[in-house]
Formats: sequence, C-alpha cells, structure tokens
Amino acid sequence: MDKVEKIHQKATTEINTVGDLSKLEKLKIKYLGRHGEINKLLQNIKSVSNDHKKEYGQKINQLKNKLTEIIDLRHQKLITQSEKSQSVDISMPGTQTPKGCLHPITIAIQEITAIFSKIGFIRMSYSEVEWEYLAFDALNMPKTHPARDDFETTFLSGKPHEKFGKMILTPHTSSGQIREMWRLKKPPIRMINIAKCYRPNWDATHTPMFHQFEGMCVDKNINITHLKGALDYFNQSYFGPETKTRLRPHHFQFTEPSFEVDVTCSACNGTGILRRASFAQDDLTVKCKICKSGWLELGGTGMVHPNVLKEGNINPNEFSGWAFGFGIERVIMMKYGIDDIRNYYTGDIRFLKQF
Ligand code: DAH
Repeated sequence: MDKVEKIHQKATTEINTVGDLSKLEKLKIKYLGRHGEINKLLQNIKSVSNDHKKEYGQKINQLKNKLTEIIDLRHQKLITQSEKSQSVDISMPGTQTPKGCLHPITIAIQEITAIFSKIGFIRMSYSEVEWEYLAFDALNMPKTHPARDDFETTFLSGKPHEKFGKMILTPHTSSGQIREMWRLKKPPIRMINIAKCYRPNWDATHTPMFHQFEGMCVDKNINITHLKGALDYFNQSYFGPETKTRLRPHHFQFTEPSFEVDVTCSACNGTGILRRASFAQDDLTVKCKICKSGWLELGGTGMVHPNVLKEGNINPNEFSGWAFGFGIERVIMMKYGIDDIRNYYTGDIRFLKQF
C-alpha cells in the first residue's frame, strides 16, 4: 500500500510539471504502459494476503483512473499553451521594412537617356578602360597636352598597344565618339554615351570617379543651330521649361568652334537674386548662393573637329556634326542646389532617399 501511495505522489508531480507533449507521452508509457508501474503493481497482487487483495486491487484501479485523468488534463493544457504561443495578434502594428530607392545618379541616367531617346539618340556605355589613343590622339589632342599628364589621367600598368599606346581609365566620355563612328561606320549618328570617368581630384565638386554623358550627332548639313536646339530641348526637359541656354566661345581640341554651355539657375530663375520671405521688409533680397550671377556652367560643346571625323573614317567634306560632354553629378547638383559632390558617395541614406 505504501508503494502505491509513493507511486501516486511521484507520478502526480511528474505529470503536472512536464513541459512538453512528447515528454508527457513518455510518462504515460512509464506509468500506464504494458510494462508500466501500474501493471507492475498489479503483478504484485500475488504476494498480497487474501484479506487485502480486494482493497489492494481497488486502490490500484483508482490510481490508474486518477493518472489517466491528470495525464488528459495536462495534455489539454500543453496543447492550449502551444496554440497560444503560435497565435497571431492581428491588432498588433506590423514591422515596417524600409523600402529601398534608386541612387540619384541612376535616376539621372534614366532621365537623361529617356530625354535623348525621344529625339532618336541611342544610349551607349563605352568602357571605363580605354586606349590612350582613343581618349587623346584620335580626339586631336597632341602628345604634349596637359590632360595627358599622369596628374590628370590614370595610366594602367601593362604592355602598351603598338598603335593605341597605354591603357588608361577613361578621363572623359569623348573617346566614345570615336568608338561610335567605328561601330556605325557611316552617319547618321545620334549617340548618348553615359559612362564612368576617372580623374585624380577630390574636393567639394570633384570625386576621382564620376559620370559623364556625351552627346554626338553627325549627318549631312548639321550646324550650330541643331546643336543649340538640342541643348535647349535637353535643358528645358531636365531643368524645367523656363530654362534658358547660352553658348560662350571656348576652346577644346576636338571641336571647332567650341563653346561652354551655361544654363539659367533654377533656384533664382536666372536672376541671380533670391527674394527672402520677410514680414517686416517685403523687398529683402539676397544674392543667389548657388549661381551668384543667374547662370550656371554646364560643360563643353562644339562642332566636331574635321580631324576627329577623319579618325572615325567619316569624310568631313560630306558630313558635319556636333558633340558635348556634361557631368551627371554636376547636372543633379545644379538642378537641386546640392553643394557637395561627396554626398553621392558617402552612402548617407538621409541624402540618398530624397530623390
Ligand atoms: N571631354 C570634355 C571634358 O571632359 C568635355 C567636352 C567638351 C566634350 C567639348 C565634348 C565637347 O564632346 O565637344 O572636359
């Protein structure tokens, strides 16, 4: 009888404290199974005196029922517990995963490509590693040109090409002009070459790697009015319909005549003056910090030099063309009044997600 009582107590504690269903199953086998404690107790009935046999048997039966009952209860409890832990509280606010965004440079590349594709320009992306010959000689730049110095251009180690010279990281996208003339073999050419460029400078307006877009149009009877028209079209599409464009005489080896392109500043609408909102003084004005004069310099352009056309196997007496080269980082800075180019490359999400 003592043993029955002991097993009763032990089993009750074990069952009521067991933490998971598989362990409970093991306890069930331990106590109620064929070779379990209850059956062992029943086998012991032989050694119990006849007087106590009936009482002993009843006790064991009671114990068996009791254990079956508490095992069932525990089973229920464990099931409800696990259901609770898996259930979803639909009233709880969800976890927000921040959405990514395109980099401002990528956005500008897409915009520029779309603007030029509307007037039939094909987007190219010529390589970042180029032969010295294509980046300079073929563009009418003499061996002594200062841009060919290794302070200005990154030369790569490796065997120079017999005709094309050393390998370099493209210092500008203009070598794409030669490559496009070679690719198409004859005009008409309407290309927009957008690629990475490298020059060893690092300050508020220069990074050693930056992007340029190079436009080129070659056909019969192409003249400066076509160039001016294309620039007006681009500048008004990209900076806004009010934008004015002007050409200033300049010098580049690969164009003749050459110009620098200016556009009216979008912050002050080309006035050079900002009107500050003030309740006290209505006419309080300040100089526009972005442009100071109403105009911002966009980049270089001109009519393709006859020597350059010749390098592309195009007869300059039959065909003429224009070209330009502008910086992507620069046009974005002009459009939004950004004053430090390094913003693009420091990975600060607060800057990047504004576009
Ligand atoms: N390649 C020049 C630069 O990187 C920009 C340029 C000027 C490109 C005049 C042209 C051009 O196509 O006609 O500074």
